[in-house]
Amino acid sequence: MPQLPIASTLEDLRARISGWRKDGARIGLVPTMGALHEGHLSLVRTIKSHADKAVVSIFVNPAQFAPHEDFDRYPRTLGTDLEKLAASNAADLVFAPSVREMYPQGFATGISVGGPSQGLETDFRPHFFSGVAIVVCKLLLAAMPDVAIFGEKDYQQLLVIRRMVADLNMPIDIPGGEIVREADGLAMSSRNAYLNPQERVVAGMMNQILRLIANHARNGRPIADAEADGRQALLDAGFSSVDYIAIRDADSLAQITSLERPARILAAAKVGTTRLIDNMPV
Ligand code: PAF
Repeated sequence: MPQLPIASTLEDLRARISGWRKDGARIGLVPTMGALHEGHLSLVRTIKSHADKAVVSIFVNPAQFAPHEDFDRYPRTLGTDLEKLAASNAADLVFAPSVREMYPQGFATGISVGGPSQGLETDFRPHFFSGVAIVVCKLLLAAMPDVAIFGEKDYQQLLVIRRMVADLNMPIDIPGGEIVREADGLAMSSRNAYLNPQERVVAGMMNQILRLIANHARNGRPIADAEADGRQALLDAGFSSVDYIAIRDADSLAQITSLERPARILAAAKVGTTRLIDNMPV
């Protein structure tokens, strides 16, 4: 199998991309934290319908993990990630920088995005979106892509990144990539690797419960009642705790009391110690 070129420094990344740009190529970026699964590979294939060259970044970003979270044990599988990308025939370059390359000595800059970052994930992971925003901003400035894609599984993250890109006047399209699911509907996630066999069975119930509650809301169940039903259903299914299950405006994530505009149901819950998120249109 042909080897994929890897850049590990910003200078190398910029040099390779500027060569392509001189040839008139449209550049696409797929930011990831590695431990690649079919969901990521689908993003890489999709970006190839928007761009001539696909750059995949692999960087486990310390800024988006709180000290008590799983930064140290987050799966790091660069060798198999590279094999999967090479086999996909869609990636043209991998950017795999070190922490020091991305966060130089004395790093002291932050980005705070308001709007869609309020509530939901932020209520439980208050550090998260500032950590995502800074690393995504740095990756976008480094690669200067024409288009960058983010999965809809992290729906709130997708809206926060779109907000930041619009607010900073970055001329970059941000399409969302559709959620790729296992046979029982579990949304693919690198963190699914943490689940033991019993937890894996429970995890598969999340999307079924979201689907059911979305249906009830569509059929007229008041939104607050549907959300309460969903919380109870997750607990009954074996989730150890529920951070939120909420039906929100699909564009702003504002709270709603009726389904007059497009809406989205979003949930975060723990099975054992593993925190899972999922969402779908209502
Ligand atoms: O969704 C992810 O994998 C990460 O949050 C991202 C966007 C690559 C930033 O580290």
